[in-house]
Amino acid sequence: MRSFSGSMVAMLLCTTAAHAAPSLPAGSPDKQAAALEAQMTDAERVRLLYSDFARPDRTGEPLSPGAVGSASFTPPIPRLGIPALQETDASLGVAWVDGFRKDGATALPSGMSLAATWNPDFAYRGSAMIAQEARAKGFNVLLAGGVNLTREPRNGRNFEYLGEDPLLAGTLAGETIRAIQDSHMISTVKHFAVNPQETGRHIVNSVIAEPAARDSDLLAFRIAMDRGQPGAVMCSYNRYNGPHACQSDFLLNGVLKGDWRYPGFVMSDWGAVRSIDDLRTGLDRESGDHYDARPYFRQDLAKAIAADPALKIRVRDASRRILRSMIASGLFDHPPHIHPIDTAADNAIAQNAGAAGIVLLKNDGVLPLAKSAKRIAVIGGYANIGVMSGGGSSQVAPEGGPALRLAVQGGRDMMVQPSSPLTALKARLNSDSHVTYDAGLSPTAAAATAKNADVVIVFATQWTTESLDAGDLNLPQGQDALIAAVAAANPKTIVVLETGGPVLMPWLDKVAAVAEAWYPGARGGEAIAGMLVGDTEPTGRLPITFPQSLDQLPRPLVDDTPDPAREPGSQSHDLKPFDVNYNIEGSDVGYRWYDRKQLKPLFPFGFGLSYTRFAYSDMHIKGGKTLTIDFSVKNIGERSGSDVPQLYVTDRAGTAGKRLIGWGNVSLAPGQSRKVTVVVDPKLLADWSSPDKGWKVRAGAYRVELGASSQNVQMSASAAVTSSVLR
Ligand code: GLC
Repeated sequence: MRSFSGSMVAMLLCTTAAHAAPSLPAGSPDKQAAALEAQMTDAERVRLLYSDFARPDRTGEPLSPGAVGSASFTPPIPRLGIPALQETDASLGVAWVDGFRKDGATALPSGMSLAATWNPDFAYRGSAMIAQEARAKGFNVLLAGGVNLTREPRNGRNFEYLGEDPLLAGTLAGETIRAIQDSHMISTVKHFAVNPQETGRHIVNSVIAEPAARDSDLLAFRIAMDRGQPGAVMCSYNRYNGPHACQSDFLLNGVLKGDWRYPGFVMSDWGAVRSIDDLRTGLDRESGDHYDARPYFRQDLAKAIAADPALKIRVRDASRRILRSMIASGLFDHPPHIHPIDTAADNAIAQNAGAAGIVLLKNDGVLPLAKSAKRIAVIGGYANIGVMSGGGSSQVAPEGGPALRLAVQGGRDMMVQPSSPLTALKARLNSDSHVTYDAGLSPTAAAATAKNADVVIVFATQWTTESLDAGDLNLPQGQDALIAAVAAANPKTIVVLETGGPVLMPWLDKVAAVAEAWYPGARGGEAIAGMLVGDTEPTGRLPITFPQSLDQLPRPLVDDTPDPAREPGSQSHDLKPFDVNYNIEGSDVGYRWYDRKQLKPLFPFGFGLSYTRFAYSDMHIKGGKTLTIDFSVKNIGERSGSDVPQLYVTDRAGTAGKRLIGWGNVSLAPGQSRKVTVVVDPKLLADWSSPDKGWKVRAGAYRVELGASSQNVQMSASAAVTSSVLR
């Protein structure tokens, strides 16, 4: 956490205040925040606790003076040298700048793509880049750090998140957060907590026992927050075992500010506040009150604190928390300066990340394509103009605008990033290659195109968006039939998927290769083309299980309100509430569920092919308070490549159940070996114990498997671990 010297504060305050501002004592951000807050008037405190939705194109209201214009703005307090809060979305790049400001930013690949890299460096580098772009546009808060576990493969926001495992998601989210905080911005870990579906998101009640939540969704948040130290937490729309998350004493005071001793502040999601009582139960700041039934904090707080000393104490605490995060994150010391972004450099970061996230799921020797390939047919998926991206608040429009924008669902646009795989492929193939394109609108016409080609590449897209879940896991718009027709016409068919998450593949045994590129970002076309011709290796590994069918899921149907008035994607607060019972799987999210139920998925968590092959050897394990495992990885193929060897604990002192406990990121030339050492976070060996109010590691033998995916075991070893309780 950053702090700044008392003398710097004094200088800053003197330069920004109309009259000499009080100097602050040196010391921790806590002390500096307390000293600053003590000088605030009640009106100043109250104003800090709510934000304007600074979007004239959405509200029809004039932009607040001083606002950059985005999801949220709170004016400065010049008298005390307190800067404005200029907040924008989010994890995939600087959003909200294309509406009325005709600006643009660099789109990172989706969170699912980042998760598929299993590489914390990509998380850090990508988020450092978007933080720089956000600062260059005048923002000092990034609403980025989504870490909700993807319990529901149809969730419309899975593309924003980091998969189904708490260690993988928490680690990558932690690096995202750390990068943003290191860039002198407040990051915002979200959406707290257990918010895995968009259907009825304002009224749905997530039902889950405490131990199950602590060992899954809350563990992901804890890992991310320990690693990244976010200045803010965003509470989610849903109910959590009854109360809404933004009114949950258990979540906000019990877990976050109590057990975890979180020193920062909790902001609501946009339209998630129902009264100033939310402040009483631990919420600190009302975001986007334009979306609330009433602007509660704006209208009711000043009067209420005059008559309620306990509420005034809460208001002072909330103000201190916000100031502390502002100081600790560097918002006083390092105000943003507006300047043009380095689009070329930032696109290169996006392209490298997009390439690293591509998961090769099947390859019957048809990839990589020879650059001398003569007749190549490219079909469907908007491949002639760009690559798919996800809808909602995280959407990033590029400078110069998207290749395609369609208003599809309740104000959510489908946007195609202007990075054409077709164009990029042509540029990498020899000049005598003949590449044709067919839009894929007619399976018959596409099959005819395919018949005359040496090899066919079919691009298939699945647009997903915030506020709406996918109705199923089928590729939409008849793409399954398109792929089947093309594969029937030419067995050398390669399918490139651009999806928000898992999809079913009824044509899988008819095609020669499948690559999952997710939403590959601002230079996704180049990333895909590079993989297709072997200029880059497919290094991705699945961060989410691909099911064989919906029947394999804990909930084959997405739970929904019984209210007949519901519209798909409804944002209404007034529909009949309903429960989703996450105790069905409990903490066994994703691969853990498939392991417990002995189910074979279409493609397992952690799976991904390479253009070379790897062998593991020399596995050693040491026990004690935790486990330390080391092993060697060797590239036994003919090409350079990267591997993600994975470690799973499968027996914990007699308790069966598979959990990811660590992995390696190794890039090796042919014949090269590398030793990998993993020291396991003991929380991963533990189970939450409510009596102990902590994670309890039981003494006994622990068995660990080493493999290339959650269902591929190549070696195993056991060691004894001593008992402990962790908090
Ligand atoms: C939302 C999203 C949240 C986003 C906020 C501001 O509806 O749930 O992730 O940061 O609004 O756009």
